[in-house]
Amino acid sequence: MSLDQEKRAAAARAVELVEDGMRLGLGSGSTAQHFVALLGERVRAGLSVVGVPTSERTRIQAEAEGIPLTDLDTHPELDLTVDGADEMDGELRLIKGGGGALLREKIVAAASRRMVVIADDSKRVAVLGRFPLPIEVVPFGLGATQRAVSEAGARAGCRGDIRVRRAAGGEPFVTDGGHLILDAAFDAIADPQSLGEELLAIPGVVEHGLFIGLATGAIIASPDGLSIYGDLTRARMSPRSSTL
Ligand code: A5P
Repeated sequence: MSLDQEKRAAAARAVELVEDGMRLGLGSGSTAQHFVALLGERVRAGLSVVGVPTSERTRIQAEAEGIPLTDLDTHPELDLTVDGADEMDGELRLIKGGGGALLREKIVAAASRRMVVIADDSKRVAVLGRFPLPIEVVPFGLGATQRAVSEAGARAGCRGDIRVRRAAGGEPFVTDGGHLILDAAFDAIADPQSLGEELLAIPGVVEHGLFIGLATGAIIASPDGLSIYGDLTRARMSPRSSTL
């Protein structure tokens, strides 16, 4: 089975969780793309759902698939979000934002009663941080924010190279929200909660890619088949009750 087939297998299992009438968060990235495509097949076969896309790219794909879209103003509470991840540890804590969509992904996940991660087995780690942590920042004051991020990391026991993400043409990568991304190569994040709190205290930081207490379940694909982590049917007590 190729990596792409593994991603599709995880997405196919997640589509089975979708029931008629659900309000869905639609994730971003190559694995979530499979989910949106498979969901589109079910919608065209008669399933009635509405979705909130977590990126412009996903919005375009979902529209092309014929999935009815909504927003969090109309539907501030969602039943289920299905999204990929860049890393996941044993406590279902995630690093997200490799595709630059972390802000909308976190807003949508926090508004959802359930968040199910779909990924291939390479995303499972013992300790978060091998994947550089994406941190969304406002362009104004970039140098000062970058320095503050470095100092905040050090206070949380994390040191490493912090770089402004570049697009393919070499220019700074700009998010859907008009912000920039710093990628922090911390290597190992011993205390994700502390690091997250330190980062959010910096005025120029909009959001970071640590998702703590948001994922309720995960479907992880490997050549041996699918593994389930957490609980695919459990909801958080209420949306937004998690620690961001
Ligand atoms: C997008 O910003 C990310 O959070 C993605 O969910 C993450 O990068 C996983 O993407 P893949 O499914 O392409 O690995």
